[in-house]
Amino acid sequence: MQSTEIRLKSRPEGVPTAANFNVATVDLPAPGEGQVLVRNRFMSVDPYMRGRMYDRPSYVPPFQIGEALQGHAVGEVVESHAEGFAPGDLVSSMFGWREAYVVAPEAFAQAPALFSKLPHIPGVSPSAFLGVLGMPGLTAYVGLLEIGQPKEGETVFVSGGAGAVGSLVAQIAKIKGCTVVASAGTDEKCAWLRSAGVDHAINYKAGDLLGQVQAAAPKGIDVYFDNVGGEHLEVAIETARVGARFAECGMIAQYNATDPVPGPRNMIQIVGKSLKIQGFIVYNYAHLQPQFTADVGRWIGEGRIKWKETVKDGIASAPAAFAGLFDGSNTGKMVVKL
Ligand SMILES: NC(=O)c1ccc[n+]([C@@H]2O[C@H](COP(=O)([O-])OP(=O)(O)OC[C@H]3O[C@@H](n4cnc5c(N)ncnc54)[C@H](OP(=O)(O)O)[C@@H]3O)[C@@H](O)[C@H]2O)c1
Repeated sequence: MQSTEIRLKSRPEGVPTAANFNVATVDLPAPGEGQVLVRNRFMSVDPYMRGRMYDRPSYVPPFQIGEALQGHAVGEVVESHAEGFAPGDLVSSMFGWREAYVVAPEAFAQAPALFSKLPHIPGVSPSAFLGVLGMPGLTAYVGLLEIGQPKEGETVFVSGGAGAVGSLVAQIAKIKGCTVVASAGTDEKCAWLRSAGVDHAINYKAGDLLGQVQAAAPKGIDVYFDNVGGEHLEVAIETARVGARFAECGMIAQYNATDPVPGPRNMIQIVGKSLKIQGFIVYNYAHLQPQFTADVGRWIGEGRIKWKETVKDGIASAPAAFAGLFDGSNTGKMVVKL
């Protein structure tokens, strides 16, 4: 069997373009004893992958030039010679950016985040395991609840509000009894956020972000969930109440920067307002996966969580889907159907 995969051709400078990627076709070996052949159905493109395209130390190693990229994928076992796996089984893996692969599941027995079986949930697309029920969902859950620690009646501000992480943050905050202010880059995204229960959806591209947040939260914000950094972070510091918590999840506004980006100009307020600002990496909260799956699964069953996906078609569309994260092409989770 053959598989088409996407390789890193060169390290992007600024926003990634098609020229930074190669499309290659490889022959897969027939699966041997203890191995399975998996056909990916959906693969994820995520903002953090931009960090792996730089050649520098980080919490995940850099992608290598000439090699297939990696990332989350949901696939279906098509041939199995491994105990416990049968054709038709759904699996989650880090073997994204390719159509198919052969592995020995036993090698991942202690690393379920890299390869594991998934349940079939009636009425829920397997792609949900890349978004609301997957890594972005867990990110929203732990960042908001463990770090933001919102209390009933408080005001939560989330940037990147219409994205995979942000849209779940906003809805969990509503479930916890908070007033939610969410920013996004288009009026259509804001309308969707309102339909999902967000109290104040702000189009940051309309300008005067500070004025818009002050109007939405005249008494200030108690929790800021940061997906964006830059001006959003400065506005959050400016509008924070004494004792506010900041969950620093991401700073997508600077992922493609070619020069060092200046910090917020009002950091002195961190002292006077006793702000607690904490970054986090979702992989350090794997122990909360069962609790997350139970809670979010229940909320979905109760109809309290809405989610959207922007679906691109075919492996060759993956580089453009990835670049689209940086111009706001997606509402909800960006996935590629394979
Ligand atoms: N800490 C962790 O462990 C962890 C794990 C997962 C994700 N993250 C971070 O969480 C954030 C959201 O990730 P996601 O997967 O949910 O992506 P996403 O929000 O679904 O997609 C990215 C969105 O970011 C917005 N954006 C892009 N450039 C921007 C800019 N310059 N200023 C403001 N907004 C911009 C765009 O929406 P608009 O139309 O609104 O501009 C775009 O749709 C990212 O920063 C990511 O790195 C962190």
